[in-house]
Amino acid sequence: MITITAKIDKSNPDKNIILKAADIIKNGGLTAFPTETVYGLGADALNPEAVTKIYLAKGRPSDNPLILHVENISQAENLVFMNDTARKLAHEFWPGPLTLVLPAKNIVPLKTRGNLSTAAIRMPNNQIALSLIHYAETPIAAPSANLSGRPSPTDFQSVYSDMNGRIDMILDGGRVNVGIESTVIDVTDEKNILLLRPGGMSRKIIEDFLSMKLSLPDNNSKKRSPGTRYKHYSPSIPVKIWQINQKFPECDINSTGYLGINEPPVTLKDIKIFSNYNEYAHELFADFRRLENMNFSCIIVEWPMENSGISEGLRDRIIRASGS
Ligand code: TXA
Ligand code: MG
Repeated sequence: MITITAKIDKSNPDKNIILKAADIIKNGGLTAFPTETVYGLGADALNPEAVTKIYLAKGRPSDNPLILHVENISQAENLVFMNDTARKLAHEFWPGPLTLVLPAKNIVPLKTRGNLSTAAIRMPNNQIALSLIHYAETPIAAPSANLSGRPSPTDFQSVYSDMNGRIDMILDGGRVNVGIESTVIDVTDEKNILLLRPGGMSRKIIEDFLSMKLSLPDNNSKKRSPGTRYKHYSPSIPVKIWQINQKFPECDINSTGYLGINEPPVTLKDIKIFSNYNEYAHELFADFRRLENMNFSCIIVEWPMENSGISEGLRDRIIRASGS
């Protein structure tokens, strides 16, 4: 398959390019597009055959449900049974990196929601994504646009290297803003909201807004967010975790890269220091891919000591990438 690519300005997307991409979606094809978190691999969420192509292109297990991307709250109301808390959250935080899991309406194909009774919905904060949904005239189902298990793509080149030849089109809207995926919460039970996946929106901001704590899923409800079961976000070389003031992991200093906030205690071939956790999260997946392309044998990442703001999501991605 020939994959069409097109550069597009996220502050002022060219309508002709969007119409071309929207046409592909309408006709049951696949278009990768930027969101504020990571690039998504989009298909018409209401067309089961189109959604099946997403799973094939990614090599993704078909029981791992997809997020439906909408352009506004009323489109979400057509897809899921929103309750008052979900509406409040959507009004406050959309467009933004917050995904709401709610009971699905019948219009959402079982393929899109991995045979679950619920569906995941979000409104992305990116003009290209919103305009694409608008002109496709349908909600767009989109997982991250990487091969299953690989680091999520945060720039065009990463999408291209995983997806060229496998999908119809890639929209190149430059680097994303956040760098890790959205926070996923299950709002089905308004009295017991579950944090299924920490991400771009901090737990504390949600908790402060609702004046309640989010719960972590027990083993039973973990089954309901199948995506969290798999090893994920991994480069093809080992990722080891270092915690400041602890023993530094064994590695070949000539072929090891380091990512962190603090200087490592040894001299390594490639050291990248971030000035804060937002920057660390923004660069993490791109740096995984960069170090992998340098043919390094190992990546050492510093454990975020803080567990607030974006660092909860960052910790989650680091743990999964290291397979620990
Ligand atoms: O930022 C993001 O969320 C990106 C961009 C493209 O929007 N998308 C993304 O999609 O990360 P994906 O497919 O890589 O991750 C979706 C997560 C998975 O962990 C999946 O299991 C969970 O959402 N999920 C989807 N539907 C669900 C449902 N009905 N119940 C529980 N978890 C669900
Ligand atoms: Mg993903």
